[in-house]
Amino acid sequence: MNAPSNIAPVISADNESLTRDFPLKPFAIKHKLANHPLLTLSRITQLAAELPRDLIEYNSGDAAISQDPNQVKAVDLDPVEIVNRIQTAGAWMVLKRVEKSPDYRTLLEDALLSVARSRGFKSIADAGFSQVEGFLFVSSPNSTTPFHMDAEDNFFVQIHGEKTFAVYNNRDGTIADEAQVEHSITKHRNVPYNESFKPRSVVFHLLDGDGCYVPYLWPHWVKTADTYSISMAITWKTEEVKRQNDLHFFNSMLRGLGMPQAAPGKNPALDTVKLAVYRTAAAIVEPLRGSQMMRRIIRRVALGKNANYYLKKAA
Ligand SMILES: [Fe+2]
Repeated sequence: MNAPSNIAPVISADNESLTRDFPLKPFAIKHKLANHPLLTLSRITQLAAELPRDLIEYNSGDAAISQDPNQVKAVDLDPVEIVNRIQTAGAWMVLKRVEKSPDYRTLLEDALLSVARSRGFKSIADAGFSQVEGFLFVSSPNSTTPFHMDAEDNFFVQIHGEKTFAVYNNRDGTIADEAQVEHSITKHRNVPYNESFKPRSVVFHLLDGDGCYVPYLWPHWVKTADTYSISMAITWKTEEVKRQNDLHFFNSMLRGLGMPQAAPGKNPALDTVKLAVYRTAAAIVEPLRGSQMMRRIIRRVALGKNANYYLKKAA
């Protein structure tokens, strides 16, 4: 937040993209994070050793673009070993919520501040960047991140290695209907893929220093090339995104209790009531989230029996 405004921005794009396309369409970006000391393999090894286990997810990089989450292959290594052996481990790994570490939070906020300033705002809050979170990806050569969608906006930055990143337009619900969107937000992010979706894609070929903007709920798949890859998702949630997500979570819980719900936006008056109830309940539960065991129980109660899927293979 303290970066002087006269230095080159951490994240930049063709000016028309930042004003014309943001936040509605994907576009290419450039960034200055490729040699950042927090994003080296040795520093990421340290982070993998420090993070709570439920903030680390990993599996085999040998996955299909259209990947059934129940058939994902495991890798029998612990998180630190994965990072240390990433060139040969055949693995895909994500370290979640790295903003919990103050150094990483500063890095993420400085990057978003540069975008905020390019868009004419004085602060990340003024620009609508709230709930800033970071997700650090470490992948072996020839790994695939299956087709999926994420419930946040994202500047994706390539730090090391080469990635193909394909983003798809689902605004009309042709790729993922409302039921699939709710499932992806609340149960598992993966989305079934079909080759017929191809004309709806924008494909980015990313080297270190490159990146792309991925709008909220735009499905995408990612593949690494023939060397290991380090990338980071710099994410945030606008007030509207938080509202949509909360409604999807509440709808999913009510559906689990045998009460089918209309998608957000179909009944705005009811949405307002649901949002108030859900947020009141969430505020009561929030203090319990400090414990990893309580987080596990809360996920199980709120989201169903598969909510802790990525901990089953815990070493
Ligand atoms: Fe993603």
